[in-house]
Amino acid sequence: QTSELPVFDEAFATDPHSHYARLRPEAPVHRIRAYSGFPLWIVTRYAEARQVLADPRFAKNFQRVSDLIESQLPPDADGRKFSADLGAHMLNMDPPDHTRLRKLVVKAFTARRVEALRPRIEEITAELLDRIEGRPAADLIDEFAFPLPIKVITELLGVDESRRDEFREWSNVLVDSSDQQAIETASEQMKDYLVELLGKKRAQPGDDLLTALIEAEDDHDRLTEGELIAMVFLLLVAGHETTVNLIGNCVLALLTNQDQLAALRADLDLVDGAIEETLRFESPVMQSTFRYTTEAAEIGGVEIPADQVVWVALGSANRDGERFEDPEVFDIRRTTTGHLAFGHGIHFCLGAPLARMEGQIAVRRLLERFPDLALDGPADDLRWRVSNLMRGLEELPVRTGA
Ligand code: HEM
Repeated sequence: QTSELPVFDEAFATDPHSHYARLRPEAPVHRIRAYSGFPLWIVTRYAEARQVLADPRFAKNFQRVSDLIESQLPPDADGRKFSADLGAHMLNMDPPDHTRLRKLVVKAFTARRVEALRPRIEEITAELLDRIEGRPAADLIDEFAFPLPIKVITELLGVDESRRDEFREWSNVLVDSSDQQAIETASEQMKDYLVELLGKKRAQPGDDLLTALIEAEDDHDRLTEGELIAMVFLLLVAGHETTVNLIGNCVLALLTNQDQLAALRADLDLVDGAIEETLRFESPVMQSTFRYTTEAAEIGGVEIPADQVVWVALGSANRDGERFEDPEVFDIRRTTTGHLAFGHGIHFCLGAPLARMEGQIAVRRLLERFPDLALDGPADDLRWRVSNLMRGLEELPVRTGA
């Protein structure tokens, strides 16, 4: 099945679900063109998505994928080149490199370290809400959903307060831009800063994640300088670009589903369910989690040749009616077990417990603080980020009831 899937296009970003709802019944795997004509395969159904994520024949093979994309792009294409240094992190690696890196990071990124952040996340949430309180209107992306995870991840790693705005900019460019020059400049600047930061931490170890990463050891094995830089880059970008969408998408789903909002307001302990259902219903990492076929592989009856790039559309898999009943309905009390919003298999999201905690605290405290919270304008007018990876709003204007 070959289709033209208009990824990167504004109409697609506004409503990817209708495209996927059309693709799913047609075939489990589609051959599409993206990146100015670059051919790839996209997996849209739940069963096959889960299968691909757990199958070693669908590997990362990052270097090969980067070379492939570059070689197939016309010279004037607006496709992206990956920065080799910053991209050499575990999300782009296969075993045994992935296994080794993940083991070292898991030793530093412990459940205890994440749980210890709870009081600080509460504090940051309260500070952000204080700034909104008393005003009739606010943009919840810019003033709440964006700054919260950034503050948490930069504090967790020990990034100076004065550099946080620059970080936000670099991170945005690296995830979403197609301007080659801007990408190169941002990655150089970010790399320089990370080198400086690591130097400082080595000289003055603290009780932070970065120090723990520097000191993490397994059988006399440690992360090298280059591995540390790529790892910190991965954590910073993952911490910057994903949780904002979880919070934004959850608030929007609640404000546009008044019965669900009322149920949650009546029992705020349902907030965990609201966050899980948001992950399923409006998955923040929507589509381009990529894999590469190291050999020919059949999936859902479709033969994918060797040396092909495959995208797993997590946000589509999570709306597959074969797996979730009434998938288009946002229901905070449904069983969401098995959703793929954090991936599946060896690359399952390392930050899932942190993202969940941030989302739960943010939504609970927001609703407590503003009993009359409402959208400021029609939901149809909201602009979505045009991104091949993320699903999230550009802005979320609300009336606070003040
Ligand atoms: C991996 C989603 C938040 C760190 C992943 C993957 C997904 C994902 C889908 C797997 C991608 C693949 O298989 O190709 C999300 C979502 C988040 C979130 C939806 C928020 C709602 C975070 C946070 C952090 C983080 C806050 C860290 C602070 C990571 C890391 C990996 C990863 C390190 C790579 C794991 C590996 O390769 O073994 N995430 N993420 N994520 N995520 Fe997250």
